[in-house]
Amino acid sequence: MMIGQEEINHIRSNVDIVDIIASYIPLTPKGKNYFGTCPFHDDHAPSMSVSKEKQIYTCFSCGATGNVFKFIMDYEHVSFPESINIVASKAGLNFHMQTSKKPVVHQALYEIYDLSAKVYQNNINTAAGKEAKEYLKAREISEEAIKEFGIGLASKKRDLITTLLLGKKYRSQDLLKSGIVIEHQGDYHDIYYNRIMFPIWDVSGKVVGFSGRVFHGEDHSKYINTKETEIFKKGELLYNYHRAKDYARRVDTIIIMEGQLDVIRAYSVGIKNVIGTMGTAITKKHALLIKRLAKNVILCFDGDAAGAKATMACSRELQAIDLVPRVVRLEDRLDPDEYIKKYGKEAFERKLASPMNLMDFKLLHYKKDKDFGNTIDVGHYVKEMLGELASMKDDIVRELTLKKISEETKLDLTFLRTQLEQLLDQKPIEPIVPALVTTEKKVRKSKYQKAEMYLIYYMLKSGEVIRTYDHKITYMPTEKYRLLAREISYYYKTYGEIIEADFITFVSDSEMMMKAVGEIISLDLKDDYTMEEIIDYINTIRDYNIKVETERLKKLMRSEPDPLKKAAIASKIVALKVRGENYDS
Ligand code: UTP
Ligand code: MN
Repeated sequence: MMIGQEEINHIRSNVDIVDIIASYIPLTPKGKNYFGTCPFHDDHAPSMSVSKEKQIYTCFSCGATGNVFKFIMDYEHVSFPESINIVASKAGLNFHMQTSKKPVVHQALYEIYDLSAKVYQNNINTAAGKEAKEYLKAREISEEAIKEFGIGLASKKRDLITTLLLGKKYRSQDLLKSGIVIEHQGDYHDIYYNRIMFPIWDVSGKVVGFSGRVFHGEDHSKYINTKETEIFKKGELLYNYHRAKDYARRVDTIIIMEGQLDVIRAYSVGIKNVIGTMGTAITKKHALLIKRLAKNVILCFDGDAAGAKATMACSRELQAIDLVPRVVRLEDRLDPDEYIKKYGKEAFERKLASPMNLMDFKLLHYKKDKDFGNTIDVGHYVKEMLGELASMKDDIVRELTLKKISEETKLDLTFLRTQLEQLLDQKPIEPIVPALVTTEKKVRKSKYQKAEMYLIYYMLKSGEVIRTYDHKITYMPTEKYRLLAREISYYYKTYGEIIEADFITFVSDSEMMMKAVGEIISLDLKDDYTMEEIIDYINTIRDYNIKVETERLKKLMRSEPDPLKKAAIASKIVALKVRGENYDS
């Protein structure tokens, strides 16, 4: 079902953007706006302002701007129609729009994965899947879990997948791009065979790849993951994220594990706020995704040394965005899957209920291979821990940990404190705005570009300015502003007024336009304007256009051999000059 702009606006006007955003991130009122930490970049100060009056949000740091739909699209990673449904349901409106599940851009890829997942799932329930089923059964993976997690089987090298995909007439380039088909001497065949297949979903729940596990015979690699594609970036997705997110938000706690089988086990016994890193190092993008789910983060990696190392690495990435996780360590080098199987759900839940504080984990971690009778070892230990404490923002935790170190090493507490302070003095002060953002902001706008932006700023506020623009200006030199001004003018003619929050919906399918609107809305100029100022902006733009056009004509004239034509161009230049002098009013 298609719905019109007016209906969308109606849905939007039924909610308050402040309430909606506040349901995701804490907002505090300040003046006539509300402020919160921006979820779209690594924000350390509350840089996002939400305007109740305008029903839009703006981040002064990264420039993220939009209305309530845009916020939900970016926060929940959903399409525009899906965001409409979410807002409608939050507004309590009885409305549901049919949404196509696949974005158009990568539709072929999404379809290929979707279809493959179905084929794999079907395989496992056929005679060919008997052995795989037995393997899963031996690992105590229930039928229910197989279904829920879409576990399947890639059986033979030239499985039906190849024929099926080719029969379906997908372009060979898309098949190859998907990473589940390869070309060999002009022939196509499957990458996966003889493997148990785990679909991997992106954060919105679409299958974007697979992890295939060997289950009989020997193989050099236990799991083979689909190669990265435009829609499958390992550094940007976490296993089971889409299933875990709502519950994790509700209980404000998220548990992070390594393997998909750990996640499947935990989920199957009813611990549903759990996601997996799939054995990769956590990236900053991962950390930000985690931060969106809950304030309480529990790292529950494998009980072996690799798991401890992964815990250290993951905690660093989380600490970098001010998220301090707690840690569960499992005995006997067990992983969560093995632990739950061996000791049961209750025992595991007891572990989750009393996780270690991060600094206590780090104390243990650094102590592990050290001989406290050896001065050099103690020295290393103290240095390592002081290094950790230097990036710990919580003063109380810092002080308590120092005390512990002092007791363990018999080093004087004051001495340790001084050492730590010295370390803190050396530490470079973190820039408040991330580097990438600063460089973008530093691009100086020229005088005419500013005029374009200021003019559009007031066009969004006043019909009078739009009418003046239509009347006086023929051309904005910068493409994005030109298109934007045209849309504003069109919108005004159609709807008779501009409500910024609704205008954003109107241009939301153009990334270029959204960016331009964002830039302009976040200018935050004074509300009132004088007509002189407006005329001034218009004249600046016209001057610029005349200058550019004059330059062009001059160049043309220089290369024109025919004297008559040359003269004609010269008179055009004069006419331009006269025009330039005559429009001061
Ligand atoms: P593990 O080796 O701990 O696997 O790797 P696991 O979860 O215990 O799996 P089972 O129980 O042996 O079946 C943790 C995660 O690292 C990734 C996988 O996502 C795995 O779940 N991994 C592991 C790979 O990508 N490739 C590998 O060869 C091994
Ligand atoms: Mn494991």
